[in-house]
This record gives sequence, C-alpha cells and structure tokens, in this order.
Amino acid sequence: MKVLVVGKGAREHALAWKIAQSPIVEKVYAFPGNAGISQIANIPDIVNDSIESLSDFALKENIDLTVVGPEDYLAKGITDLFESKGLKVFGVNKVAATLESSKAFAKEVMESANIPTASFSTASDYEAGKKMLKNFDFPVVLKADGLAAGKGVIICENYETAKKELFEMLGGKFKEAGSKVVIEQFLKGEELSLLLLTDGSNVKKLLFSQDHKALLEEDKGPNTGGMGAYTPVSFADDKLYEKIESLITVPLLRELKKREIDYRGVLYIGLMIVDGSPYVLEYNVRFGDPETEPLMFMLKSDIVPYFLGCIERSLENLPEMSWKRGYGATVVMASEGYPGSYRKGIFINGLETVDNNCSVFHAGTVYNKNKKMVTDGGRVLMVTSSGNSIKEAIENTYKNVHKISFEGAYYRKDIGYRELNRGGQ
Ligand code: AMP
Ligand code: GLY
Repeated sequence: MKVLVVGKGAREHALAWKIAQSPIVEKVYAFPGNAGISQIANIPDIVNDSIESLSDFALKENIDLTVVGPEDYLAKGITDLFESKGLKVFGVNKVAATLESSKAFAKEVMESANIPTASFSTASDYEAGKKMLKNFDFPVVLKADGLAAGKGVIICENYETAKKELFEMLGGKFKEAGSKVVIEQFLKGEELSLLLLTDGSNVKKLLFSQDHKALLEEDKGPNTGGMGAYTPVSFADDKLYEKIESLITVPLLRELKKREIDYRGVLYIGLMIVDGSPYVLEYNVRFGDPETEPLMFMLKSDIVPYFLGCIERSLENLPEMSWKRGYGATVVMASEGYPGSYRKGIFINGLETVDNNCSVFHAGTVYNKNKKMVTDGGRVLMVTSSGNSIKEAIENTYKNVHKISFEGAYYRKDIGYRELNRGGQ
C-alpha cells in the first residue's frame, strides 16, 4: 500500500514512523512534513497543503490510504472531499469534526446524551453572559466556542476577572472562535486522556495516557501545546475504562447515530477524574499531541488494519490492540520563549548520538539552505523512550534529551512525576 500522512508535527512523525513499520505498507508519503519526517517518508512536491491539492496528489499517485493528523484539515472537510473522489481516508468528516470545532455543540451533544461533564451555559452576548456568571461557583472556566489553537480556555478565579475575560472574548480576543463562549464549572481532579479508534459502532481503545500542558515544573506557568506525556496511567484501570465506556462512549456513539453523524476516526476524550468518576472536559476528533508519541512507541500491533477497519466499518473483526510491557514517555524540547515568541533557524546537535531504543519525533525542524537541520517552531523535538517501570522510562528518555542540544532549548525536568509519585510499576 501507499500511504499519505497529512500534517507536519511530531504526532504525524510518530504516525508515519509506525505506519512505515507495517508489513502491508510499501511507501509512506507525508505532507507538509518536516526535516525529521523526511528521513522516514517521502515529502512530495505539492504546490500547497490545501485539501484540493492533497486530493489531486492522492489521485495522481494512487494513494491507497491517507491518514490525517491535525483537526483543521478535518474541519475543512478533507475526508468528505477524499471520499467523494473514491479515496480512502482515515479521519472524521466535516460534520463529525464539529465535536471539536464547536465546544458549544459538544456540550449540547453531551447534555442530550446525559454524559457526565461540567455544568455550563453558553453566552453570545455580554450582558446575558454576565448574568449567567452569577450562577456559577468560582473558579469558572471560559471557553471560546471555536478552534483557537489550544489557547481559548481561560480559568477565572473570581467574578471580576471572569467578567473582564468574557468581555474580551466576546469582543474578538480569539476572533470568530470567541463569538460564542461556553461558561463552565471548574472541576478539581486528575486529568486523563483516552484515545479510541471507532468505525461509528465499535471502538478499539488505546492505552490511557497523561499530557503535561503547563510550561513549568509541577504544572505551573502558562498552558502550552503539551510539554510531555506518558502511557499507561496506573490509576486508570479496567474498572475506570468500563465506567467511561458505559457513561461516555456508548451514549456518545448512540447520540451521534441519532443525529445521523457518521463518526469514523479517532475519538479523543479529555477527561477529569473526580473522586473516581469520569467527566468529559473536551472531545478532540484527532490524535492527541504529545500523547500519540509514547502511544505509537508502545503499540505492538500494526496500526494500518485498524485505520482500514474504521474506514470500512469492520473494526469488530479485529482483536484488541496489543502493547509493549512497561511505560512510554515523551519529553518535549522547545525553543526559548515558547509559548510566546521565539527564534527559528537554530542549529540542532547530537541527534545522531541518541540510543537505538529512543525515537526523536520532530515537531518543528527544517533543513536550511546548507542542508543543516535547524529549529523551525516553538516545540522542536519530542524525545521518546520506554522502560519496564515509569522510573526507567523517564530515565531512558532524559538520558537521550541530554544528548541533544540547541541554543536556548527548554524542557520540563519532571515529565511523568504524577505517575512516579503514585509508584506506578
Ligand atoms: P479543553 O480544551 O476544554 O480541554 O481545556 C483545556 C484545559 O483547561 C484542560 O486540559 C484542563 O486543564 C482545563 N480545563 C478545561 N475545562 C475545565 C474544567 N471544567 N475544570 C477544570 N479544568 C478545566
Ligand atoms: N494533548 C492535548 C491535545 O492534543 O489536544
């Protein structure tokens, strides 16, 4: 098979890396790709990354399967376009992508299906929203309805800051994405990610994982796209999975069917576990980043038949996915200044010295004019390794982080600390 991976981050690098290991795959293409991805996949010469240009390429090159990473292509309808041309594509269609691209829609679906989630109101008008705020205990969480590159969620400690934020959001702080704002009750608990593959009726679960969204150690400082992740999570056992299945997954799939939404692809459930009970914080319609990196590293099964099973609605014929024993961990190396402004074009050294049992997935790298690899983004490299225990996985990962350098490189020193504190084996 010829497979095309769409996207240019470390998530797509990890997906392309895993897909390239499939015995049924002959050739992997990736677009737009990056310097790291170009070492394991072909980066074709496509004029731009519009969904039309991508589908022209897939038709011309007889691509058998396209796997879409980022949500914006899904929200633009890449799946609908590819399917209309008879191309196989893994990723949800445009209507299904609304589950991520509109938080108000996701909340409304959850309310109809009686799925546990924080209580909420939706405001599109400041005066009405100000009144709604009075009905909440503080802190409250304000969420821009639309896609805001992970920045559209603000936790407000009191009424005064909430009022001010609401005013700014409705006033265009996140442009059109903030024209509607979900006001949500703050939940205190432990965050957890669960990624599922679904054909609309059946699901195959990936391992539970945990992301580290904050920039600084102990989860302090501003939110980022994610500074690290690990899998599995010892408190997330089969019993918790069963609760999630009966309270969240099954009712959601039923509700989507009722609404005639054909949901085939990844269902990423962002959870808050409050006293052992799962609540949905958000749905994403694509693989989580950086959770995908340790997940792909730990996955033993060939992933390609699962992608096809989702597309062809035949997931029930496949066994549960199998996993390497132990833990996988990813540490993100970022540019100085990230998530604020940062420089690009800084030389990266030491990549050739990492251990064989370590994968460095590239998030923001490029070859410069002189064919030297340089930084090209806020998050640059996602160093991934594994071990029999969480301690060993973390040690193996940091050992390799220390072999890589670029000027101003920043990384958190405490990835996996929650699991370490739990004594996860
Ligand atoms: P979201 O994009 O909705 O997942 O929100 C981004 C982050 O904000 C989450 O990963 C949580 O850390 C935090 N968050 C969102 N909603 C809530 C909530 N209701 N209670 C507490 N924290 C929240
Ligand atoms: N890791 C969080 C996300 O992918 O949205």
